[in-house]
Amino acid sequence: MASTKATSRRKTAGKGAQDAIALLKADHVKVQDLFDQFEKARSDSRKLSLAQEICMELKVHTAIEEEIFYPAAREATDDSDLLNEASVEHQSAKDLIAQIEEGSPGDDMWSARVTVLGEYIKHHVKEEQSELFPEVRSSNLDLKALGQQLLERKQELMSEFKGKSNNGVSARSQRSTSSASHSL
Ligand SMILES: [Fe+2]
Ligand SMILES: [Fe+2]
Repeated sequence: MASTKATSRRKTAGKGAQDAIALLKADHVKVQDLFDQFEKARSDSRKLSLAQEICMELKVHTAIEEEIFYPAAREATDDSDLLNEASVEHQSAKDLIAQIEEGSPGDDMWSARVTVLGEYIKHHVKEEQSELFPEVRSSNLDLKALGQQLLERKQELMSEFKGKSNNGVSARSQRSTSSASHSL
């Protein structure tokens, strides 16, 4: 959380310090592309690997929004209706993600779930980008600093999830010792 060390600042700022909204939008583009690829995929193995990637990307994205971006936006914009809606939409997405992760392409409903998840996400992204982000952009939030926090947490979660999918429990214990998990 406290990240005002001159050394680390210089290093990260040079390496494409994205503002929070740019970072989240880039995630949106990436996941939309994965959904488009999924709709075109023919083989079950390709569908499965795309769905796994979609689920991982979305779990990380929703987590960094919920842990960092939404609380900051709630404070800066005072628009709790919009943020409550967004949180409910996240929950619906997470329910579908869990069902997709438990299922497999052999199940008839499985592809339908991925398609519907794509539709949910499209709707949710549209609202974030047309309503929430402009409100946040016009607030006095430090979007660069917030972007840095999002990036760090994103990297941490990515390696945590990748470690989990490689060998069950894994990298989690490594990480949890170094980071106090209840920050904001
Ligand atoms: Fe979101
Ligand atoms: Fe988002």
